[in-house]
Amino acid sequence: MRIGILGSGLMGGKLGTLFARAGHEVVFSYARSDEKLRRLACGAPGARCGTPAEAAREADALLLAVHWSRLEEVLQQAGKLTRAVLISCSLPMNADDTALVVGHSSSGAEELARMVHPLRVVSAFGTVPSEVLFSVFDARAKPARPSLVYCGDDAAAKELCAGLIRDVGFDPVDAGPLRNARYTEPFSLLVAHLAYEGTGSPELAYRFEDRAG
Ligand SMILES: NC(=O)c1ccc[n+]([C@@H]2O[C@H](COP(=O)([O-])OP(=O)(O)OC[C@H]3O[C@@H](n4cnc5c(N)ncnc54)[C@H](OP(=O)(O)O)[C@@H]3O)[C@@H](O)[C@H]2O)c1
Repeated sequence: MRIGILGSGLMGGKLGTLFARAGHEVVFSYARSDEKLRRLACGAPGARCGTPAEAAREADALLLAVHWSRLEEVLQQAGKLTRAVLISCSLPMNADDTALVVGHSSSGAEELARMVHPLRVVSAFGTVPSEVLFSVFDARAKPARPSLVYCGDDAAAKELCAGLIRDVGFDPVDAGPLRNARYTEPFSLLVAHLAYEGTGSPELAYRFEDRAG
């Protein structure tokens, strides 16, 4: 699958690298330095770098991984998006990353879906810290994979996203329609609190178990 990365920082850089290692054709875009994009592309098998418009061209999936304040700019640079599934790990955080600026009656993912309508949006990967991604990938052959919730309104788009979640080494958990990002986004802040302010390391993942099943 061809995957464009819009935002090649902690999340986009690592997820793009892992998508490439899993065999996908990845294009990294949107960082403040072209040198960084080139470095990421060199470190990931078969990956390239380019502008957001180049990353978006003919992409099957686009990973949106920017700070909430950069959303409009990166989407504008990506140009008209018609086909790709837009997977967003971006959380609607304020400028100093201390609070959600959207919540309760909407979510960042729903606001995003309104911005890019009729593009299909799936919210995924935002509930884990970037620090855990490589170790989850490295342990993907082991049983009892960690969970990763995702939500969206289009069945085919969600199936595509679930495949990518599996490729990274998680067990995808369908959390229902996109409106349930109202629950997953605050949950991300809980996970971030445990990862960065808890007693353990930021290499933190979670696992849901159906104890009756
Ligand atoms: N980090 C996490 O563990 C984590 C976990 C869950 C969800 N999230 C969410 O995921 C999203 C991405 O987070 P992140 O930690 O990956 O952020 P990040 O490391 O800051 O990455 C953002 C990317 O956007 C680029 N960028 C920022 N301003 C730019 C500008 N003016 N022009 C061009 N490029 C620009 C950055 O460039 P540079 O590379 O040059 O800085 C970077 O590549 C956020 O919405 C965050 O809330 C993050």
